[in-house]
Amino acid sequence: MDNPLIEHAREALAEAYVPYSEYRVGAALRTADGEIFTGCNIENANYSNSLHAEEVAIGTAVAAGHREFERLAVSSGVRDGVTPCGMCRQTLAEFCGDDLTIVSDLGDGAVTTYTLGELLPETISASTLSAAAEASDDAEPPHEVGDTDSEEPS
Ligand code: THU
Ligand code: ZN
Repeated sequence: MDNPLIEHAREALAEAYVPYSEYRVGAALRTADGEIFTGCNIENANYSNSLHAEEVAIGTAVAAGHREFERLAVSSGVRDGVTPCGMCRQTLAEFCGDDLTIVSDLGDGAVTTYTLGELLPETISASTLSAAAEASDDAEPPHEVGDTDSEEPS
């Protein structure tokens, strides 16, 4: 049997660069055609520049031309059932449907399995923006800056 995806996530966390948090994360993403891309977190002295393991995995896969994904596995060094943070859930939602399976490492061979739809219901998506654009096409034109007939109190 193939190595389970969670093993790839565990291997990927060995390369994590985490001098600040010391919290290692590894992610492994399987594409619709069966390729596997991995990532680890890469921290930065300017903390907000830090890359998350899932971002690195999906970014590498997308840069290699992939757009369809079927499964993501995530593991931390302490196998504490880590799941993608809110930002990574939204990044995944750009390319993956609610049915993406997300596997989280609980250690001792145990995992918890979620779907992206469970972890991020009611996400903003391209269709949110196109619906908003259509609605605004149908609406009254907005007041221009400098309109003199504005009803706003002065
Ligand atoms: N981290 C990830 O790599 N993925 C997540 O979605 C959660 C957080 C990393 C970022 C930081 O390097 C460390 O975990 C602690 O937050
Ligand atoms: Zn994240």
